[in-house]
Amino acid sequence: MNHFDYRPASIDGGEGGAMFCEGVPLARIAAEVGTPVYVYSTATLERHFAVFQDAFKTAKPLIAYAVKANPNVAVIATLARLGAGADTVSEGEIRRALKAGVPPERIVFSGVGKTEAELAFALDVGVCEINVESEPELQKLAAVAAAKGVRATIAIRVNPDVGAGGHAKISTGKADNKFGVSFSEAERLYANAANNAALNPVGVACHIGSQITDLAPMEEAFLKMRGLVQRLRAEGLSVERLDLGGGLGVPYFDAPTPPSPAAFAEMVERVTAGLDVQLAFEPGRLLVANAGILLSRVIHIHERPEGTRFLVVDAAMNDLIRPAMYEAFHDIRSVAAPAEGAAQIAYDVVGPVCETGDTFARSRHLPALNAGDLVAFMTAGAYGAAMASEYNSRPLVPEVLVSGDRYAVVRPRASYDEMLARERMADWL
Ligand code: LLP
Repeated sequence: MNHFDYRPASIDGGEGGAMFCEGVPLARIAAEVGTPVYVYSTATLERHFAVFQDAFKTAKPLIAYAVKANPNVAVIATLARLGAGADTVSEGEIRRALKAGVPPERIVFSGVGKTEAELAFALDVGVCEINVESEPELQKLAAVAAAKGVRATIAIRVNPDVGAGGHAKISTGKADNKFGVSFSEAERLYANAANNAALNPVGVACHIGSQITDLAPMEEAFLKMRGLVQRLRAEGLSVERLDLGGGLGVPYFDAPTPPSPAAFAEMVERVTAGLDVQLAFEPGRLLVANAGILLSRVIHIHERPEGTRFLVVDAAMNDLIRPAMYEAFHDIRSVAAPAEGAAQIAYDVVGPVCETGDTFARSRHLPALNAGDLVAFMTAGAYGAAMASEYNSRPLVPEVLVSGDRYAVVRPRASYDEMLARERMADWL
């Protein structure tokens, strides 16, 4: 469910007959802000957060939004106002969460390679939990905390050795992935931490992958986590928190249909029944993916004599890298409402970047389009702008947040001067 819909032609002073984000016609945003541009819907963000929160009405977990999915401070702030915390993986993300108004006591700090400086920063701002992913990190954190004379509240991140996730590059829970420690390591490190005056182990954490569309691997991992909590307690250690990560998939196309948050919550409640722990989750994609689109304009159509028809659009792999990087599918829609029964034409949808990888879709059937027409890449709110770059010296794509019938440019397009002003000549040039 999202709020990007076609409105009938009969309404809105000539702006109908086209796709809107809530009450704002996308064509208006394209005209006023330019393209390509990411457009986010507040109502969709709010709805997705509410659905997840409602699914866990009784458990009242910490819902730490995984900032990496969409780090725009206005997006984080929209979720923070509803009570979301933040799952962060760098000092930059912690700073974004704080700027967006997430209280430190709702910020979790994860990641396999936190530097001393980042750990020190996290301790200084008082994040609620540092998820420790390895023994060297545990030792480093203990030293940093001891030097400051503080006690670091930690969870140990476990790698449950369960495969899941839509693509090999985003699966994190198998033993050969770089994330977390084994169950036996976790027991040893937890006990060590409990004996260290600079560390306060309060829980265990896991995250097995992203774009997971099947509850079975999650259930398998969570059952193993339950066993770990019980074993730690049997050793006389206190375990108050269980962080079960993010990873729930979203529908990018008709099938497979990912499990609903309600079905996920039912499984979690069954698996954790009677465990008496404070639950935490780190959803990213689930909250933001369908709340965003990438709006782009057709530059021209290049037809090859042998029949291939390239739809060359002004968005490129530097703006949305998921198709190039993960062979990801994004639905592409014409912003002008297609006429009923209009013929569909097969296009190869490509951007202007000088690589064949800059191909969004092959043989995609779309209504007939012309130069200047607008298209929307759907389900682009997660890992879209977040992963954008300036490759081919294309300024970072701007972002717009819509709420009802108003919108705000929450990241303006950088000018070429701004882009170039960041660089310096070496003094010998
Ligand atoms: N927690 C941890 C520790 C994570 O590593 C991640 C994602 C999340 C939470 C949030 O996962 P989500 O709920 O969004 O699935 N760029 C890729 C996805 C990478 C996910 C990385 N970790 C993509 O575009 O599909």
